[in-house]
Amino acid sequence: MNLIRRPRRSRQSAAIRDMVQETRLSVTDFILPVFIMEGQHVRSEVASMPGIHRLSLDLLLDEIQECVDLGIKTFDLFPNLPESKKDKYATESYNPDGLYLRAIRAIKDRFPDVMVMTDVAMDPYSSDGHDGIVENGKILNDPTLEVLGKMALAQAQAGANIVGPSDMMDGRVGYLRQVLDEGGFHEVAIMSYSAKYASAFYGPFRDALDSAPKFGDKKTYQMNPANSREALIEAQLDFAEGADFLMVKPALAYLDIIKLLNDNFHLPIAAYNVSGEYAMIKAAAQNGWLDGERAMMEALMSIKRAGASVILTYFAKEAARLL
Ligand code: PBG
Repeated sequence: MNLIRRPRRSRQSAAIRDMVQETRLSVTDFILPVFIMEGQHVRSEVASMPGIHRLSLDLLLDEIQECVDLGIKTFDLFPNLPESKKDKYATESYNPDGLYLRAIRAIKDRFPDVMVMTDVAMDPYSSDGHDGIVENGKILNDPTLEVLGKMALAQAQAGANIVGPSDMMDGRVGYLRQVLDEGGFHEVAIMSYSAKYASAFYGPFRDALDSAPKFGDKKTYQMNPANSREALIEAQLDFAEGADFLMVKPALAYLDIIKLLNDNFHLPIAAYNVSGEYAMIKAAAQNGWLDGERAMMEALMSIKRAGASVILTYFAKEAARLL
């Protein structure tokens, strides 16, 4: 054959493959989500997320030390609370003596250079298991903002560096920006869950936190998986309202959305490789149905190739070890 173009020429050796590689993962891309709970020396594995544990604060600090040694610098905290701490208005979310705010202070105290990211949504603290205030079976938008504002302000006061509104209420980014600025927290960044879909892939996370909705689903606030143009509207609003990062969630079934936002906005794009995506790979690997390490690295690479420069992933530690 007289072929002028032979793409295989650039694949013939490891050295040349390395040279032409377009996308590279780095440990600095990762944010590790961590589950915390009350107690001492508690390490409770999440049944649907092999290798991932809910940790009491003492063990959390050890875990963070291990991750820091691997080069991971940012941690996103999620609290598992007993039913007795939950109520309709998520008041525990801004209790200064509560688990979550104590955790932020403890981390910043021991690791001043670590970035603490927080979750801003009512669900782990809500007796209804929803991200907003429920009245007559409806999720109220504007009254919820007030709770989110108190929560984000308390998190900033405790030392949080990045707040992550994951609630999908309208107007929350602008509202949080205003509350944070009025509180003097100009430097606290907002990583907005801009395009957050109503996804089946959050199942294991809700097991981890015991935070599944007590009735109905989240479809009146989280987005319809069938829609991509709507992601542009959400991202546009978050940009205008002052978000510092735009997030797409989940990641793997939404690579087109990651690319869409990356092509259209000049902000860093984050992607949340969610609990169900982690669980799928782990389960298949445990069954010997695929090579777990290779599948993990390929999945993470695909998220970065699609345009995410920040990846929230439960694989952060394992991937960091391989990098
Ligand atoms: C809730 C929240 C969820 C996740 C992060 N924040 C679940 C939900 O919306 O029900 C999911 C993360 C994951 O599945 O890993 N505000």
